[in-house]
Amino acid sequence: MAGNIVVLISGSGTNLQAIIDACKEGRINASISAVISNKADAFGLERAKQAAINTVVVNPKQYSDRESYDIALAEAIEQQQADLIVMAGFMRILSPHFVERFAGKMLNIHPSLLPKYQGLHTHQRAIDAKDLEHGCSVHFVTAELDGGPVVLQAKVPVFEEDTADELADRVQVQEHAIYPLVVNWFIEQRLVMQGDYAELDGQQLPSSGYADN
Ligand code: GAR
Repeated sequence: MAGNIVVLISGSGTNLQAIIDACKEGRINASISAVISNKADAFGLERAKQAAINTVVVNPKQYSDRESYDIALAEAIEQQQADLIVMAGFMRILSPHFVERFAGKMLNIHPSLLPKYQGLHTHQRAIDAKDLEHGCSVHFVTAELDGGPVVLQAKVPVFEEDTADELADRVQVQEHAIYPLVVNWFIEQRLVMQGDYAELDGQQLPSSGYADN
């Protein structure tokens, strides 16, 4: 049976687009029942509309604190009865209650080779550190910001003359390749979170994910 996904975004939605395309082409055996944004002007909402996907905006300005916002967000998600919640550039810190409510059902993509560079400005930080390689990680979401079990990473080289934008573009090509793959593993019930690690086809994944090298 085909799965049901909710995607959370805050911005341009290129990862959302990769997931929309993969659903359409059968590379993900699921459909997206809603795209939820905390920003009414997120371009990703246009992408959803183009693909005839239901959109929902949960605007933080209408809530007095994080806890009440997260309750409203959780209710919007639960209405969709989704198998999986996909964070695709959703730029908000989530309260522990929220994370607990959807434990094991939430994936995120982060633009660094975790555990390196949790948080913001990851590309500039990799350049400043003169790293020779950088990349992205798909991981389960836990209460620790950018700290949940890694499922899959992709690496790219960092060139001496790179700007943060150039490096971000190179990383995003990889994001669009690995995120749909991991989403489909989950939908096909091959991927589960077991406590503080991820398991694929019954095998515990190493701390830097599948195909660790
Ligand atoms: C992506 O590069 C993603 O890795 C990053 O936001 C971008 C969203 O782009 N996420 C984070 O930094 C989360 N900590 P998109 O809207 O074009 O998919």
